Amino acid sequence: MSNWSIREANEANIERLIELRLALQDHMERCNSRIWRLSAQGREGAGEHLSQIFSDENAVIFVAVSDDGEIVGMIIGRIETSDKYVPSTAGTIRLLFVSESWRRRGIGSGLVRRLYQFFASRGIEAISVRYVVGNDEAVQFWTKIGFKPIIITASKRFSDLEQIIAAEDKIKPLEKS
Ligand SMILES: CC(C)(COP(=O)(O)OP(=O)(O)OC[C@H]1O[C@@H](n2cnc3c(N)ncnc32)[C@H](O)[C@@H]1OP(=O)(O)O)[C@@H](O)C(=O)NCCC(=O)NCCS
Repeated sequence: MSNWSIREANEANIERLIELRLALQDHMERCNSRIWRLSAQGREGAGEHLSQIFSDENAVIFVAVSDDGEIVGMIIGRIETSDKYVPSTAGTIRLLFVSESWRRRGIGSGLVRRLYQFFASRGIEAISVRYVVGNDEAVQFWTKIGFKPIIITASKRFSDLEQIIAAEDKIKPLEKS
């Protein structure tokens, strides 16, 4: 079985990071057809967005690299600070992706552990992650390492809303609130 190791990413890795970022997007869009999709412009801008992370002192990208030098996984984390909330300092996991043929070998957990070290060095009090409803492997993965859902984002298409408003208009005029 091939081995792998984890290191911090650098700007020379950008092309591969874009591939993994877009592969994650495709995966999420397959898992749930209702999520907001990345536009052509969003896809083109993925590289610029990732490049900005290298100059953000509160963010970091770690990659898993196979013995033959291929980047087979990545994780992005960022520290968020706000006096308006308790906890005031939290680590957010922005992206986690492992190439399909490299899964179930501990790479995902290894990347998360490496990010924990970065978060711990910056004194965070909590860690959060978002994943798409319908992404069953993400549910299994995050649940296994102790993450519990706290917020659900629900969504409705405006076209559905227009039909409901039109139907209600036939029954009674809209009440003013
Ligand atoms: C989720 C993901 C990052 C896991 O990476 P990985 O390298 O396979 O994870 P690990 O090998 O460290 O798995 C750790 C544990 O998580 C659980 N797990 C991971 N993938 C699972 C799956 N497909 N089904 C069930 N349990 C799973 C298992 O308990 C596993 O331990 P085990 O292999 O000893 O049973 C990877 O499947 C992936 O990139 N998926 C597509 C992108 C994605 O969903 N990213 C997360 C969204 S934020």
